[in-house]
Amino acid sequence: KFDSHASVWLFGYGSLIFKADFPFLERRPASIANWARRFWQGSHDHRGTETAPGRVVTLVPEPGAVCHGMAYLVTPEEFAHLDHREKNGYLRLAIDMRFEDGTSVEGLVYIATHENAAYLGPATEREIARHIAGAAGPSGPNSEYLLELAQALRDLGKTDPHVFEIERHLAELTGALPPVTAC
Ligand code: BEZ
Repeated sequence: KFDSHASVWLFGYGSLIFKADFPFLERRPASIANWARRFWQGSHDHRGTETAPGRVVTLVPEPGAVCHGMAYLVTPEEFAHLDHREKNGYLRLAIDMRFEDGTSVEGLVYIATHENAAYLGPATEREIARHIAGAAGPSGPNSEYLLELAQALRDLGKTDPHVFEIERHLAELTGALPPVTAC
């Protein structure tokens, strides 16, 4: 379906929002409809370990939901590179993303479904915060991932009740001051 010689729009909703450490042609804030971001995927290799996995985000279908993120236009070569790097439990899905000017484009997104071995599934925001507070892996503390994601969403002027509630619970647990949230 995709022309392998053309550039590809990749929708980032997790670490790709705050850590764009790859070459891209263009970057634009974007959103996808009918998907919700959830800290339901286990991370053995980045924000946790094999015996104590961390929690990172994936997308779950949710009619009416809107997930805000960042879209990157990448070359097919760069996409192949990212595809190899991000594979761990994540599958590639074709998706329509919407830019802030109202235009839409078809691109790709990585999602981890309940069928992958690292999937952890639902838990309350309080439980997720407790889990995140105790996990760390080769990429750093799991809490850093959560806090950077929440801050990146604030920087975009977007909200995500699930992410921000986990962030509030984490602040309670660590005694840190909760972030100031607009509105
Ligand atoms: C993302 O930010 O969209 C993402 C990052 C790593 C794996 C899957 C998705």
